[in-house]
Amino acid sequence: MLSLSELMLSVEESRTLALSASIFELKREGIDVLSFTAGEPDFNTPEFIKNAAIKAIHNNLTRYTANEGSPELIRAIIEKFSKDNDLHFEPKNVLVSSGAKHSIYNVLTALCNPGDEVIFQSPYWVSYPEMVKLTGAKPVILKTHAEQNFKLKPEQLEKAITAKTKVFLFNTPSNPSGAVYSKDEILALAEVLKNKNLFIVSDEIYEKIVFDKEKHFAIGSVEALRERTITVNGVSKAYAMTGWRIGYAAGNEKVIRLARKLQGHSTSNACSISQAAAVAALTQHSIEVAKMVIAFQKRRDFIVGELNGIEGIYCALPKGAFYVFFDVSKFYGKALNGTKITDSSSFCDYMLKKERIGLVPGVAFGNDKCVRMSYACSNEEINEGMKRIKHGLKKPG
Ligand SMILES: Cc1ncc(COP(=O)(O)O)c(C=O)c1O
Repeated sequence: MLSLSELMLSVEESRTLALSASIFELKREGIDVLSFTAGEPDFNTPEFIKNAAIKAIHNNLTRYTANEGSPELIRAIIEKFSKDNDLHFEPKNVLVSSGAKHSIYNVLTALCNPGDEVIFQSPYWVSYPEMVKLTGAKPVILKTHAEQNFKLKPEQLEKAITAKTKVFLFNTPSNPSGAVYSKDEILALAEVLKNKNLFIVSDEIYEKIVFDKEKHFAIGSVEALRERTITVNGVSKAYAMTGWRIGYAAGNEKVIRLARKLQGHSTSNACSISQAAAVAALTQHSIEVAKMVIAFQKRRDFIVGELNGIEGIYCALPKGAFYVFFDVSKFYGKALNGTKITDSSSFCDYMLKKERIGLVPGVAFGNDKCVRMSYACSNEEINEGMKRIKHGLKKPG
């Protein structure tokens, strides 16, 4: 056998995608599995967005657009950043890609050389470590815990920065923890970053999904960091458009130029029809997003109350996104219904096999004490899921 890419062999498959695939398989076999693994809203894309896409097809917007994105979408993105985030860009600062995942990959590849270090916290979004490895750089992971609401302390960040640090990769609101950094917390991190020679990549894909009057603050709007911050966002989560694959990055012109070059030689422009739909999402006023956020907040309140009522579970209150990330480590070393629980994977295996409920092991996000449950699903599913979790944890060894 001829040898394959050492780099690709060193990269792990996406555990969340793999888990979703095996749950899909069980469902196809007719097994009644409840899945709480989804990283996407359960709502449909709003009608006005779908109509914009249909119109685009009828208007024959079916050809290549500019590699970096259509001028209409780039203008809409510039206006969005200016209105929502106090970030001010010109077209040369923007790149539209096939999802925020693609944006982050393009930007990290534009920034990193082999041997560089990229700092981010755990729990982290599954793709960060593997994407960093794909660039040849080294992930440097800073642990945060439920007791600190899964938020990085400025001292932790200060200590981790070395001469090799190229990027601080930041995510608020966070997947999987739902943590939302306040403006003051971000300013405290910015105090550390302002005199350091590094870039900041800020993943703000869950910006619109925040609760309890919490406000999203963009780290790139801190004056001292403007030139060095690349802000990533997209339409997947806020507008229930995960399948349309539109994400975008904006920031330093030199970095964006390199990211555009990579995209130009790999995928070229994001889908022209999806770009037209994204223009509608970003420019037309609608109450759909607010309605989704209200529904998510109600579900969160119910789930957190239920989980914290179960002996042995601790769930910090998430302030954004649509996940709870709860600590199940009190069950480790114990047997549930004859099954020994040793870590987040065996906990989730047990729940899937015995209670037919799909949860994601925290180890996929760099925290083996917790598991992630998505509440982007119906209230009926959530009610039934809670019953199954309680049932599974009640059984004596
Ligand atoms: C933290 C985070 N960033 C980025 C993405 C990528 O979103 P998309 O590629 O659908 O725009 C996701 C999706 O799950 C995410 O959770």
